[in-house]
Amino acid sequence: MIPNSCSSVFTATRTILCLATLAFVACQSKKKTATTDSGANVLVSHLPEKIDFNRHVRPVLSDRCFGCHGPDGNKGREAGLRLDTFEGATMVLDSGKRAIVPGDVEASEMVVRMRTHDAEDIMPPHKINRPLTEEERLILERWIEQGAEYQPHWAFVAPKKSPLPEVKQRDWCKDEIDFFTLAKMEEAGIAPNPPADRAALLRRISLTLTGLPPSTQELDAFLADNAPNALEKRVDALLASPRYGERLAQDWLDVARFG
Ligand code: HEC
Repeated sequence: MIPNSCSSVFTATRTILCLATLAFVACQSKKKTATTDSGANVLVSHLPEKIDFNRHVRPVLSDRCFGCHGPDGNKGREAGLRLDTFEGATMVLDSGKRAIVPGDVEASEMVVRMRTHDAEDIMPPHKINRPLTEEERLILERWIEQGAEYQPHWAFVAPKKSPLPEVKQRDWCKDEIDFFTLAKMEEAGIAPNPPADRAALLRRISLTLTGLPPSTQELDAFLADNAPNALEKRVDALLASPRYGERLAQDWLDVARFG
């Protein structure tokens, strides 16, 4: 790797670490919501105002419905219904019903099937053993109420630069990514940890990039390296390692449901 590219590689790694922090913070705040689930009203106040298909809806449909009503036509599409496209989800089915009637929750058969207590009719069927949570069902309902707008997969949508969020502790932010992580932390009422020591930093970067902790030799070499770009050099070495490729392949194999 040419030396000039070190800092951009480092930024990429930082982005990965920060995204992991964001996901962690998101999970933490979700937990907090769950403990206050004393009734639908409390839940409704926690729902996002504007439901975003890619962020809130697709993950739920994908996990609970696409197995039987998804893009995988050859595995059998139950009831001739596909929920991964607007056209499929809104068309009149053989039963004479429409799974989704945009803007009309009560008329949407999908809602009837999610709300029912009838073990024969409920969706997803009990046999898949992954029932919808109350919150997920309400998100799907609000999305239908707001017009059931589908979006192309995020991977096909050109990224747009977001404005920096407002944060209280501006001095803590060293770059733009920090604004986003800090905003989420402030929202969840938690404060950033003090900076990690060098051994912890190397361990995190190694685990993030290769899934493996650093060896004792790697740690000693890193601690002995006083160059200002010592960390960037380590990141480059990790990115050049076959272990990094193997770590990335793992995610793809998971997506392909290998093993
Ligand atoms: C394990 C497979 C499976 C999964 C997962 C599943 N369904 Fe179904 N679904 C079926 C089958 C089989 C039928 C047809 C029998 C029936 O109507 O109950 C059906 C029927 C339906 C119908 C009625 C279609 C009609 O013709 O009136 C709707 C609406 C529906 N599913 C919505 C959903 C939603 C929403 C999810 C996810 C939350 C889901 N399904 C998950 C198997 C599944």
